[in-house]
Amino acid sequence: MWTYGGTYPGLTLRRPTGQSTRVTFFNNLPSLAGGKTVHHHGSHSASADDGQVTGANFLFEPGQARTYTYDGIENGENERGAMQWYHDHRMGETGMNVWMGLTGLFIIDDPADPATLPSGSYDLPLVIADRQFDGNNQIQYFYDPAGVVGDTVLVNGTYQAYLNVADRKYRLRILNGANARRYIFTLSTGEPFMQIGTESGLLPAPVARTAMDVGPAERLDVVVDFAGKLGQELYLMDAYQVVPLLKFRVNQSVIDTSTIPSTLRPLPDIGQPTVTRNFSFDFTSNHWSINGLTFDPNRIDARPVLGTTEKWVFTNPTGTIHMVHIHDVDQQCLSRDGGPCYPYEKMKETWSVGPGETLELKMKFTDHIGKYMLHCHILEHEDDGMMTQFEVVAPTPTATPGPAPAQPLNISTRARVQGGDNALIGGFILTGSDAKQVIIRALGPSLAASGMPGALSDTTLDLYDASGHLLASNDNWKESQKAQILATGIAPSEPLESAILTTLTGNSSYTAVVRGKNGATGVGLVEVYDLGLGATSKLANISTRGFVDTGDNVMIGGFIVGGSAANPTRIVVRALGPSLSRFGITNALQDPTLSLYDSNGSVMATNDNWRDGQQPEILAAGLAPTDDRESALFAPLPAGAYTAIVAGKNNTIGVGLVEAYNVQ
Ligand code: C2O
Ligand code: CU
Ligand code: CU
Repeated sequence: MWTYGGTYPGLTLRRPTGQSTRVTFFNNLPSLAGGKTVHHHGSHSASADDGQVTGANFLFEPGQARTYTYDGIENGENERGAMQWYHDHRMGETGMNVWMGLTGLFIIDDPADPATLPSGSYDLPLVIADRQFDGNNQIQYFYDPAGVVGDTVLVNGTYQAYLNVADRKYRLRILNGANARRYIFTLSTGEPFMQIGTESGLLPAPVARTAMDVGPAERLDVVVDFAGKLGQELYLMDAYQVVPLLKFRVNQSVIDTSTIPSTLRPLPDIGQPTVTRNFSFDFTSNHWSINGLTFDPNRIDARPVLGTTEKWVFTNPTGTIHMVHIHDVDQQCLSRDGGPCYPYEKMKETWSVGPGETLELKMKFTDHIGKYMLHCHILEHEDDGMMTQFEVVAPTPTATPGPAPAQPLNISTRARVQGGDNALIGGFILTGSDAKQVIIRALGPSLAASGMPGALSDTTLDLYDASGHLLASNDNWKESQKAQILATGIAPSEPLESAILTTLTGNSSYTAVVRGKNGATGVGLVEVYDLGLGATSKLANISTRGFVDTGDNVMIGGFIVGGSAANPTRIVVRALGPSLSRFGITNALQDPTLSLYDSNGSVMATNDNWRDGQQPEILAAGLAPTDDRESALFAPLPAGAYTAIVAGKNNTIGVGLVEAYNVQ
């Protein structure tokens, strides 16, 4: 066999949640086995650590090694406890590589899960998978795009396994580790299992089930009670083939202090979807396909925006069941075949979709941008072509400004904060290599205190780096860094406002996202202040994207320019709308207008279409908007505070972006 660490299943990795883990795999296989890639199935990994299916950066050849990092963090919090697994994922060869033995378990223990569930030696992982052996008891694999099955079912690599157990409750964590075979698990007594969890961790409440039909890669977290069965033998059965899989010999008597709480873990609140996509699991020109297309590593079929929630709809016009598996994030079930989802499939990452069925899921894309897979987990369907890629993209377009002679000291933007794509998003760039201390604030209640109608009553703030990793989050500023924030002299005036004080590396761009707590909407303000003026790095650009409404709810960008009156800072301000459609914004402002005010409220300049204004200066700065309806202004500005207002032409509304650049 080909194994991870010499056994099948491979070495079980077991880690507390939230602890970053680096795992190095050495490829000691014979050269004919070729390059390998390891996918940690169920992990919310960075794209580069997800086990990309092809490419020199991702495959490690015989004689080579590759290290993967799994940080155990999801949406800024500890990843939920779950039994995950890892397996090979090489394009076109996953079926063979897994069949040969490249499968192992990865268990995440989570102190937020109830502690009274059976644990320790009463918590048993079971990998159930079939294999075919030849006359010399050697594994043989003959590729068949319909799916490869064998006549021998193994439990943790053992045929006709048995287990001595005590007369008490056991937690069984079952992985269907088969390439293509489904099992219907039953107990020979006809008694039910209590299902407590899925691939994605604990259910909100336990569900009693007597027969559990599961396809490849699905996991079941169940509790079985052997109380009152001392001296008996019973079996875990497969009701499809009607064969016993694992014998339990109840031959020890112990006191059972474990319990199954009636509520386990609530589902995370991931909000309502703002985008819908459809995926049909098809059979096209004699190959398994998705939306009629077989896998192409150079094609990406969906580009969800980081931080947003989407609805994905899966249909199956073929005559056989497919196993929809989505990498990166867990999914919550919205409906199955137009009706409610089964009570035991609230949140998962591998789903059965039968012939003619429709499955609607929602998921929120958090923490990581980059490419991820979506495929049928019948491995020969995947290898035959039933796989595609999506790419999670950053919420704001970024630009690279030129070096800056003087420096803006602060930026701020006020806009109406709505759900999903309409959150208030502030982007900024630090040029120069020095690290720089900044404070980012999200204001709402204090705007109300100063008379702003409809201000957000409670803000949240998230800070991301250029690759979309969440760097910090804050809800109420006093709850963390209170003393340090007070020491800056610019602490928010209201306790429900948010602030992040941090030191950021130079030559990089950052994104701050302001939302209303629990999806509330209202007017909010995002601000970045430069606290590290001594450093050679500069706050060189700011951009803010938000929903541009009318009246008081137009989008307002503010910035403060440092330096002296004798040495004005050359600033380009832009207002973008139509070009945001390219980044997947569906309700972009179609024709933005821009006006620039000084601190006395006097209009300094206005622009509707940038080509009608200072076209040569804007082109020379390399900052021409890509759409002629967009606006831009160039101005040499003395030290002072300025305000740029973006409104939709003729009171139109939509998502707009305001940016200020410091140019030479
Ligand atoms: Cu377990 Cu993409 O796979
Ligand atoms: Cu996976
Ligand atoms: Cu399939």
